[in-house]
Amino acid sequence: MMDIAELAPTHVTSIIGCDGGNGWNRHERHWLDVIGQVEAGLRTTLVAELRGVVVGYGSLLWRSSYPGFAANGIPEIHDLATDVAHRGTGIATGLIGALEQLARQRGHTTIGLGVGLYADYGAAQRLYVRLGYGPDGKGVTYRQQPVVPGAPLPVDDDLLLWLTKQL
Ligand SMILES: CC(C)(COP(=O)(O)OP(=O)(O)OC[C@H]1O[C@@H](n2cnc3c(N)ncnc32)[C@H](O)[C@@H]1OP(=O)(O)O)[C@@H](O)C(=O)NCCC(=O)NCCS
Repeated sequence: MMDIAELAPTHVTSIIGCDGGNGWNRHERHWLDVIGQVEAGLRTTLVAELRGVVVGYGSLLWRSSYPGFAANGIPEIHDLATDVAHRGTGIATGLIGALEQLARQRGHTTIGLGVGLYADYGAAQRLYVRLGYGPDGKGVTYRQQPVVPGAPLPVDDDLLLWLTKQL
């Protein structure tokens, strides 16, 4: 049975061991920074645990760094991952549902997120559509700036399509 809890310093040892796959394995320093941001009220971070072991995590940034969300006060689901050994069992679905509930509780009527375009993001792209997220209609951005046609940009983690959902 999965438990969802707010990230606390006691989770750090376990969350470091959570294998999020390519590019999703962070060191202690990263999680201590995240806890600092939680304490400053900038984000809420949830962890999913199975028998006390962290198997997934996700954050809600209360003020997005994407101008399309920031201008409209839309909180952003950010840095979501499930341990590779526990994928496809509903962990991210549960985390997203809990993050949506937190946004609702603070009176938000829209929530959003950015998703990458290459194959490593394929599972995330499918999941978000299944959960009712759709494009915000502004096209892709690179490091938060609109991408103009023909721009010679790499397809990497900074090239994002932004999706929203009505709560
Ligand atoms: C994207 C990601 C977070 C999804 O995590 P997850 O915990 O596997 O997601 P879920 O299990 O909730 O749902 C994923 C799939 O499992 C299926 N599923 C959910 N519960 C299930 C269950 N009990 N039994 C079988 N399948 C299930 C869903 O139908 C979904 O399938 P679909 O995508 O084909 O529609 C994970 O693949 C990941 O960490 N990817 C790398 C990091 C990343 O891309 N993060 C997002 C950045 S924007």
